[in-house]
Amino acid sequence: MRAKDIREKAGEEPITMLTAYDAPTAELVDAAGVDMILVGDSIGNLRLGYESTLPVTVDEIESATAAVARATEDAMVLADMPFLSFGADEDEAVENCGRMLKAADADGVKLESGPHTVELTRRLTQIGVPVQAHLGLTPQRENETGLFRQGTDEEAARRIVDLAERHEDAGAFSLVLEHVPANVGAAVTEAIDIPTIGIGAGPECDGQVLTVDEVIGLSEGVAPFSKAFGDVREEMRDAISGYKDAVESGEFPAEEHSHYEEDVDDLY
Ligand code: KIV
Repeated sequence: MRAKDIREKAGEEPITMLTAYDAPTAELVDAAGVDMILVGDSIGNLRLGYESTLPVTVDEIESATAAVARATEDAMVLADMPFLSFGADEDEAVENCGRMLKAADADGVKLESGPHTVELTRRLTQIGVPVQAHLGLTPQRENETGLFRQGTDEEAARRIVDLAERHEDAGAFSLVLEHVPANVGAAVTEAIDIPTIGIGAGPECDGQVLTVDEVIGLSEGVAPFSKAFGDVREEMRDAISGYKDAVESGEFPAEEHSHYEEDVDDLY
């Protein structure tokens, strides 16, 4: 899938997007026919043990993106640009985003957006880097906004619609809308032609995205707008204690897990 295929799906059929941070998960997500795989900076708190997404580095996203891209055949793979890898120096931002396509084989990048990303989005798309914008709750700004619902009064909601239009005009191929009232999700979807991908933004968006850890039930809890469709955490817990108990009881390794070689019988 390319940016143009995603754009063409807007309003035709629901677009699906999920995160993945490693090759085996990406292989499963891709095989399920999900349209876009996001190597989210949520890797920071979900997989790397950080308290937030802020410490995630360009190297960490690049390495995870490369693993995901190696395992993906059909889905569009997007690298989520981490905090301070863009937004300060534009040349450095272009170089960091370029690394995701050149070295990690991503098909595009996602930028947590604001007024500061409009011109960067224009420059990146002009040079061939597809950009997915991200408005509403942008967790990289959690020190300023907290992790709360955004766009809850008229002025804030209008600012989101205005920024969505400016990013569309700058060339973004789609837009993630996070944790905003469902009617703001609907208004943005109405206002722009590029697809809106909602996460806690109601059912009127052109598509939906969640973190795969929440969907499979690997993370400890889920956000109020998210949903666990499985319980992998419980499965892992059972398998790990099953292994420990079997080693301690002598049940593992059994005959079928062991191999004996006659030639090395009398070593000691
Ligand atoms: O990092 C992430 O996983 C994200 C999605 C939740 C949109 O930005």
